[in-house]
Parts: sequence; C-alpha cells; structure tokens
Amino acid sequence: MTTRRELILAAAGTALGVPALAATAAPILRKVPYSGEAVPVIGLGTSRTFDVDPASPAFQPLVGVMEEFFAGGGRLIDSSPMYGRAEGVTGALLGKTRRQGAAVVATKVWTDGRDAGIEQMNMSFARLGVTRMDLMQVHNLKDWRTHLPVLREWKAAGKIRYLGITTSFAPQYADFAAVMRAEQLDFVQLNYSIGEREAEKVLLPLARDRGIAVLVNRPFMRAELFRRVAGRTLPGWARDIGCESWGQAMLKWIVAHPVVTCVIPASAKAANMRDNMRAGFGELPDEALRARIAADVG
Ligand SMILES: NC(=O)c1ccc[n+]([C@@H]2O[C@H](COP(=O)([O-])OP(=O)(O)OC[C@H]3O[C@@H](n4cnc5c(N)ncnc54)[C@H](OP(=O)(O)O)[C@@H]3O)[C@@H](O)[C@H]2O)c1
Repeated sequence: MTTRRELILAAAGTALGVPALAATAAPILRKVPYSGEAVPVIGLGTSRTFDVDPASPAFQPLVGVMEEFFAGGGRLIDSSPMYGRAEGVTGALLGKTRRQGAAVVATKVWTDGRDAGIEQMNMSFARLGVTRMDLMQVHNLKDWRTHLPVLREWKAAGKIRYLGITTSFAPQYADFAAVMRAEQLDFVQLNYSIGEREAEKVLLPLARDRGIAVLVNRPFMRAELFRRVAGRTLPGWARDIGCESWGQAMLKWIVAHPVVTCVIPASAKAANMRDNMRAGFGELPDEALRARIAADVG
C-alpha cells in the first residue's frame, strides 16, 4: 500500500517534472565492505560536465541535473581538483538544491608533495562546502606514497570517512594492483565498461578479495559507446530487465558485476541524468544476458 509519505514525495517529484521513482520504488544498493554503509549503485561524475562558469547560462541546466540525480535516488558524487571549476560548481549545486547532507561527496588529491596536497585538499573542502569529506582518493596514483599517510591521519581525525586511489587506463593497472595489495584501502576507482573490460582480470577480483569498495568511471567511455549504437533499435531483451535506453543497458551491465559498488556517469543534461538514474532500479542482467548486451553494443 502506498504510504502518505510516498504520495507526498511522488507529488514533489511530479512538480519538479521528474519521475518519482525513488519515492515509489527502492533503488538498488551496495554495501561498502569497510563500513557496511549501503549506497545507491548509480552515482554522478563531474569531469567536464560541471566545469562551467557559475555565472554563465551553462550553470542553470546543471541544477536540473542535480535535481534528477537526487529524485532518482542518487547519493554519491565524484569530483577532483583536476576538473577545473567542477568542485566549486558541485558545491554550489548542492547548496542550491539543499542537498549537502544527503550526498556522499568524493573528491581527489592530484598534486605532488605533502604541503601542496594538504593545501589542495583544504581547498576542495571549501569548494565542495563540506567540513568532513566522505571519500578522498589519490587521483591516478599521483604521489600516492606521500598522500596516503596524510589520508590515514585525516581519517583517524575524522576529517574524511574513507580513503582510496583511482585510475582510468589499463597501462597503470600493474602499479595500481601493487598498491591495492600493499595498502589498506576503503575504495578504488577504475574504468570499466562494455568497451573497457581489462579490470575483470586482476583489479575486480583483487577488490573482492581485499574487501575494497569499487567506483566505476568512464561507463560510456565518455560518449563513445553511444556512437556505437547510434540509430539502432533497442533489442527485445531490454524489456526483461526494465531498460528503456541503451544507456540504461550499459549501466546495468556494469552494476551486474557483483564487485561493483557504484558507477558514476557524468552528464550536463537533466534528461540524460534522469535516464541514467533509472538504471539503478529493477532487474539486473544475468551472465548470459550480459554477454548478449556486450555483443549487441559491440
Ligand atoms: N582517473 C580518474 O579518477 C577518473 C578518470 C575518468 C573519469 N573519472 C570520473 O568518472 C566520471 C565519469 O567518466 P567520464 O565523465 O569520463 O565519462 P562517461 O560518464 O563515460 O561519459 C560522459 C559522456 O556521456 C554522455 N552521456 C551521459 N549520459 C548519457 C545518456 N543517458 N545518453 C546519452 N549520452 C549520455 C555525456 O554527455 P551529456 O552531457 O550530453 O549527457 C558525456 O559526454 C567522471 O565525470 C569523473 O568523475 C575519474
């Protein structure tokens, strides 16, 4: 039976012009092994899409992106000082949509040296408008030997909740795996998609064995995967797992991997964000269907 709270939330969603999916259905959640905290499987990336001048016309559509993200049950947002103005824009959007408390905010340190790293991370706190960062990651392993001890100190002091490392290219995987084996990490972030499956060989099994949560970047290989399916009708199997678009099928293909905690597609368009969020609900493909989806996307 629909509760009064669900009806109110559904009405709020309709007023925003969004599907009140998260108000009427439960998003798929995955647990962070370190803490047991459950997070929705669809998150939000901010590279390029959120690198805009907040005073420009490009900012306003991003308010819609953020609203769709939360209306669709999202929580985890990933940024980096590498992404130009994206951290500041993310902070401004969280303030504008009054969602600071609802978000799981992740960013990165991307510089050389202890003092420079601390200065950069303090700047990230200010830009994102948080007093405690949920997840701090060493971006692409940059000077990780220097930064990881600082992240441990900050975690012990309660300034960050989780620490981790990121990569997005296979040539770095051997070094990445070595850090995963040697260090105690809460999260790794890596590229994994129908078009980039290298992580299946070593990194994903290692994350499972070491109890490390996995964020997935580049789920659409930027937008290359959409170019592969352009103009092609969605096959009949899509209905079986509740997919209305190729994008949802690509995201569900990723989320169906049991070691994946959360995938972080980026979009500057509210309609695309809404589309992506729907991949976080309903059925997931089994192995046989995953193979068909991968073959059909090509
Ligand atoms: N080493 C690292 O730490 C690292 C590296 C890479 C990425 N990342 C993180 O991972 C996030 C995601 O990766 P990414 O941004 O490189 O690429 P991505 O998410 O694979 O692709 C983003 C592109 O896909 C398009 N798109 C999104 N949803 C769509 C939809 N439903 N239909 C059609 N087009 C859609 C977007 O265009 P529209 O704006 O037009 O929707 C955008 O051009 C980044 O934003 C960043 O937070 C981290």
